[in-house]
Amino acid sequence: MSSLIFAILAERLVDWHTRHQRNLPWRDAPAGRRDPYRVWISEIMLQQTRVETVVDYFERWMARFPTVDALAAADLQDVLKQWEGLGYYARARNLHKAAQRIVAEHGGQVPDSRAAILALPGIGAYTAGAILSLAYARPEPILDGNVKRVLARLFDIDRPIDEPAVLRELWSLARALVEAAPSGAAGDCNEGLMELGATICTPQSPRCLLCPLAEHCRAAAAGTQAERPVMPPRKRTPHYDVAAGIIWQGEPYRSRLLIAQRPADGMLGGLWEFPGGKRDPEDVDLPACLRREIDEELAIAIEVGELLTTVKHAYTHLRITLHAFHARHRAGEPQAIGCTDWRWVELGDLERFPFPVTDQKIIAALRAAHATPQSPSR
Ligand code: ADE
Ligand code: SF4
Repeated sequence: MSSLIFAILAERLVDWHTRHQRNLPWRDAPAGRRDPYRVWISEIMLQQTRVETVVDYFERWMARFPTVDALAAADLQDVLKQWEGLGYYARARNLHKAAQRIVAEHGGQVPDSRAAILALPGIGAYTAGAILSLAYARPEPILDGNVKRVLARLFDIDRPIDEPAVLRELWSLARALVEAAPSGAAGDCNEGLMELGATICTPQSPRCLLCPLAEHCRAAAAGTQAERPVMPPRKRTPHYDVAAGIIWQGEPYRSRLLIAQRPADGMLGGLWEFPGGKRDPEDVDLPACLRREIDEELAIAIEVGELLTTVKHAYTHLRITLHAFHARHRAGEPQAIGCTDWRWVELGDLERFPFPVTDQKIIAALRAAHATPQSPSR
């Protein structure tokens, strides 16, 4: 590959990005001269989440935790509460942990060396490249889903993009490109590549007529845009039925109910939930599943009542149908066995705790049922 082509591509990208980029709250200064903390937070939020969703979360986050020091000093529960609904909660726990490390080891300044950044929890090659280029104008590459797609089309790569050899090739193309960018423009080059992928070189029907790189695009020349990138074969995601209990101490809606906190390191770690779990083939029905799960997780006996609502949710690697039942506490003091903590709370207390999206839907159903006079309160 001649290096001239990279210089041409980089220059066009930078020029295009400078003129056409969207106005987003973390783009408050030219790329290469931004507050590394804001770059870091926005890039972590953007990793699994759409730009439109991130905008509000980012602004609320910055109002609440304006600096690394503020984040490091915050309570993890407040951090998770700010993250509530964004998913992949390990991101929030790692941000909190990394902020404390930055305060302890780097005087509160996000480090500007690749090795020091990569040593922080939750920061991989992508985020390191983003921080170094967008905040510090360093010619370090980035490779996210958008960039992979653009590069696979520009160079008409005909093998699945998850193959290790292809990933290495993509990283080296991304590096060659950013290293060929005009001095000081590494950040705009990287961000331009992401922006092109987000707005022009989109997964379906890329708008090649508007693309600043079209003249040099091999997929456009060969007419293979729709076949690039070659995606790995999709695995079927498993589906589970899950039963959850709104376990009342006494009369539904007139007594307190039980919530439990999920173990810190697993899926949705540190969040609170209505306790329950997956249906096992041995469970004769969902109420039996719920009684078993509550016994295993909290060592209490319950009586399962009527179904309140059913919520479906797709995570990356699994899909669930969550069946939420009213239940009554019968015997035993809760023990934190399969959870890290538990509380008896009033309906009105629930908003103070971070919950997964599924459980927020249960809370909404509870509030709606409670507002209706013929709610199941007998
Ligand atoms: N996705 C991830 N980071 C981004 C950025 N800085 N601009 C546009 N899309 C992005
Ligand atoms: Fe993508 Fe089309 Fe531009 Fe090639 S010409 S990079 S396929 S938008």
